[in-house]
Amino acid sequence: MVHKDITKENKQSSTIWGGRFNSKPSAIMEEINSSISFDKRLFHEDIIASIAHAQMLAKQNIISKGEGLKIINGLKRIYKEIEKGKFNFKTELEDIHMNIESRLKEIIGDTAGKLHTARSRNDQVSTDLRLWVRNAISILDKELKELQKRLIVLAERNTSTIMPGYTHLQNAQPITFGHHLLAYVEMFGRDRSRLIDCSKRLNINPLGSAALAGTAFPIDRQSTTKELNFTSPTTNSIDAVSDRDFVIEFLSISAITSIHISRLSEEIVIWCSDQFNFIKLSDKFSTGSSIMPQKRNPDAAELARGKSGRIIGSLMSILVVLKGLPLSYSKDLQEDKEGLFDSFDSLYICIKACIGMISDVTINKEKMLEASKHGYTTATDLADWLVKELKIPFRKSHEISGRIVKLAEKNNCLLHELPLDSFKSIEKKINNNVFKVLSVENSVKSKISYGGTSPKEVLKQIKNAKRRFLK
Ligand code: ARG
Repeated sequence: MVHKDITKENKQSSTIWGGRFNSKPSAIMEEINSSISFDKRLFHEDIIASIAHAQMLAKQNIISKGEGLKIINGLKRIYKEIEKGKFNFKTELEDIHMNIESRLKEIIGDTAGKLHTARSRNDQVSTDLRLWVRNAISILDKELKELQKRLIVLAERNTSTIMPGYTHLQNAQPITFGHHLLAYVEMFGRDRSRLIDCSKRLNINPLGSAALAGTAFPIDRQSTTKELNFTSPTTNSIDAVSDRDFVIEFLSISAITSIHISRLSEEIVIWCSDQFNFIKLSDKFSTGSSIMPQKRNPDAAELARGKSGRIIGSLMSILVVLKGLPLSYSKDLQEDKEGLFDSFDSLYICIKACIGMISDVTINKEKMLEASKHGYTTATDLADWLVKELKIPFRKSHEISGRIVKLAEKNNCLLHELPLDSFKSIEKKINNNVFKVLSVENSVKSKISYGGTSPKEVLKQIKNAKRRFLK
């Protein structure tokens, strides 16, 4: 960033509050104060909120109908200018609110000055930001739903695909890949419900709170509330201009979601390693190496994993900004936006990347099946069999099964490769039927408890997930 020469007097800028001041702000003052480089992103929300405000002022005869119309038409023109990239944003005009007001003055003259009647940038920015977050939530909700859909489609194709289930990243028990994928569908479902919850709570209208105390003008707060699709006006003007809980909530939900994205990404990275070789990402979602010709790197997954760092950072940042901040508005609050925007952008691209990776991934079913047989993954099935068939208490059967595993390990073979005599050498009542429960296929088939890993149950939960999440 190039800093302006602070030794030079800033003679050009004229501020909106110029009346009380003898000299103009220094270049450094302007630079530290300015938020236009990032809050221009609020232009849509700023203009629709200003239109609603102008309409209300005219309806309440605080300004004339003609003035209201003039203001609204001017604002609409500015909207088009910004959309077309023809608007000249100026740092010395500090933020989006003053940039728009100043341009309005250029277009319609002094009437522009009436728009700011009965409002302040304090209620204005809070309104804009609520509208922006509300929209961001609906975009993320839509993308998360799409990700859930792709996971469910993949799960549907893999209800009987067997893989090792892990605890401590050690082979634990055989599971179905569809079942594993549905775990992520649950996580993103919770994220979506948190987003909707946040959306409900933030959807109240600060307009009319003015700087902090409310206003003496006979405004109609219900009218702007209705116009902007808020559920009600805020009920305390001091809180309305100082509250950024909705930013904290949005960022904490984003952080949680990014953790889920990161966990999924980590598994993708592991699964496409040479050691695992469970999946292959498509060419569209793999990258090469500049030196090693053979490489196929899962960069998208790595970045989706890594970007959680900055999202969590933004959450920490807004928490610290608000900690100990006295009521009501302080300029510290301007620090709410960059982390918010960056987190949304980061999360959005991560979700999109996951959708892309999941959509055309190739599943190496043979490799998954083979891996599921290693690590004595049916030792628990063996212990369960001893309980069911031989009426041995579970603690005891656990020990017997453990000793059989030790024996298999000593003979360097899998459980089902041990001869019956070896089983009998540890527990003489064991019979041939035991071999039925030692296969990974029968192991997964047997897990029919609600929410369990059997193909039948997974199919049921897929139907359930479609009803819960994709309607
Ligand atoms: N750019 C400011 C912000 O983002 C707008 C509110 C300014 N209010 C004030 N009293 N200076 O918070």
